[in-house]
Amino acid sequence: MDDLIMVTGATGFLGGALVVEAIRRGMASRLLLLVRADDPRLGWARLSGNLRLLGASDAELAQLGWQQVLFADLNALTQVADDGRLAQVAVVIHCAALATFSEHPGLEKINVDGTLELAALVHDRPRLRRFLYVGTAMACGRRADPQHGIAESMALPLAPESHLVPYTRSKALAESMLRKRFPSLPLVVARPSIIVGHTVLGCAPSQSIFWVFQVWQSLRVLTAKLDDRIDVVPVDWCAAALLHLALKPALAHAVYHLSGGESGSRSFRQIGRALAAADISDEGRQAAEIGYEYISVDEIRLLVPCIRSRIPDCNPRLLVRALALYGEFARLAYVFHNQHLQEEGMSPAPPLTDYIGACVSSTRHISISSQMKWDFK
Ligand SMILES: NC(=O)c1ccc[n+]([C@@H]2O[C@H](COP(=O)([O-])OP(=O)(O)OC[C@H]3O[C@@H](n4cnc5c(N)ncnc54)[C@H](OP(=O)(O)O)[C@@H]3O)[C@@H](O)[C@H]2O)c1
Repeated sequence: MDDLIMVTGATGFLGGALVVEAIRRGMASRLLLLVRADDPRLGWARLSGNLRLLGASDAELAQLGWQQVLFADLNALTQVADDGRLAQVAVVIHCAALATFSEHPGLEKINVDGTLELAALVHDRPRLRRFLYVGTAMACGRRADPQHGIAESMALPLAPESHLVPYTRSKALAESMLRKRFPSLPLVVARPSIIVGHTVLGCAPSQSIFWVFQVWQSLRVLTAKLDDRIDVVPVDWCAAALLHLALKPALAHAVYHLSGGESGSRSFRQIGRALAAADISDEGRQAAEIGYEYISVDEIRLLVPCIRSRIPDCNPRLLVRALALYGEFARLAYVFHNQHLQEEGMSPAPPLTDYIGACVSSTRHISISSQMKWDFK
């Protein structure tokens, strides 16, 4: 029997895209997917529904069977510790996490404890040769010096005040605890920058984060400078990069940014223009003519009347709070170095401006308030 590739988070955005990519590369029979579900039938339905959203055809889905799913929660893995398939696992790609900017009480339990429980489940399996932990590049915190880009550094800040949201701290903590508790784990860390949309499907599989660009455009304001850049990558490229790192026999580094970096990041000016060009509405055309006004994060609260008139489906107070948070992230203007990934031979990420048309057309009929739910679980 071939070595297995265990994937967590396949019912989510990145893990689902990774599974679709693996099926397309002829690796369906090698997958072992950890899916949480009280009822396996419902778990299977959620999994296949998500893979369809990420572009899997009937023929591609037919290559997966129940024998490739391990139904378990990250926080209840002892239930599956005796499963014979674990002895075949050679590579773990750990995508599952609670990825939310809310102050969710389950963040540390899932992102830190769940990650450590997964490592405990697999670390002494006979065939294990790589444990690929999906972190986040934003785990570098807000004190990083953005002048020359953010280096692929092992050290991450753990103090709560170094992070804009508890989520990024939980991801940093998980990384650091993995190293401390499992020093012999064949750990490699992949930290994606900001994942927005899919190069072909746009935001149909997930509207996470794209709505922020649309809101800035509607309100014609920005909390970053127009020439500041933002480091965004599409989910299908990110999935391909993860598989590349998971399967390459030897890797030169322990930490990789999956990022646009210098060549793939775009300025808000470039993104604003591309967004307006892809937008057939009068509002979009006007935004292109008028441009954006720079405002401070403190001034966002003054936008309530404007939100009421231009984005009437949204609760203005909720949107103001969300914009203040995303405004802080945008102000960081981080561009994440990706030399390590380039050295491994991965092709560069397509910039958002190349596939923004697919993002615009796939969200045309989805309200901003519905799109926001992807980020505030
Ligand atoms: N999206 C981004 O912009 C971004 C950027 C940088 C890094 N990342 C990282 O990339 C990874 C994937 O993010 P994503 O955007 O794909 O998130 P997502 O769409 O919210 O998917 C999260 C996945 O984790 C699973 N999960 C959560 N808690 C679990 C538990 N207790 N037991 C088992 N599975 C659990 C979810 O399963 P259910 O379906 O059962 O909820 C889902 O499959 C995360 O590690 C995230 O930190 C994401």
